[in-house]
Amino acid sequence: MVKIQAQGKIITCAKGENLRQVLLKNNVDVYNGNASIINCRSIGTCGTCAVEIEGEVSQPQLREKARLSLPPHSPNSQKRLSCQVKVLGDIKVTKYNGFWGQGSEIVWTPEG
Ligand code: FES
Repeated sequence: MVKIQAQGKIITCAKGENLRQVLLKNNVDVYNGNASIINCRSIGTCGTCAVEIEGEVSQPQLREKARLSLPPHSPNSQKRLSCQVKVLGDIKVTKYNGFWGQGSEIVWTPEG
C-alpha cells in the first residue's frame, strides 16, 4: 500500500492505482468549479484534472504529454493529469487555480 496526502486527507491505496479515481473516491476536489461536471472522465483530453505531485508516480505517456503541451497548460508545466497517473509510492498532491488547474495560485495543498 502507498499513501497519498491531498487536501488535508491521508489516503492509502494499492500501488499502481489511478490517482484521479482514488482522489474522487475519497472526496478530494480534483476539479475546480464546473470542471467537476464538464470533464473528459479520464480520457486524457480535457486537461482539467491537472495537479502537482511530489513523489513517485508513473511517467507521462504520449497522450498526457500532448495535452499538457497545449494551452492553457504549457510544455514547461510541472503539473500532471491525475487521470493518467499511477501512484507508485507515497505522494503529496497540490491543486492550483483556473478551470484546468493551470494557474499558479494554490487551491489546496497536501495538508489542507
Ligand atoms: S479528466 Fe480529462 S484529462 Fe483528466
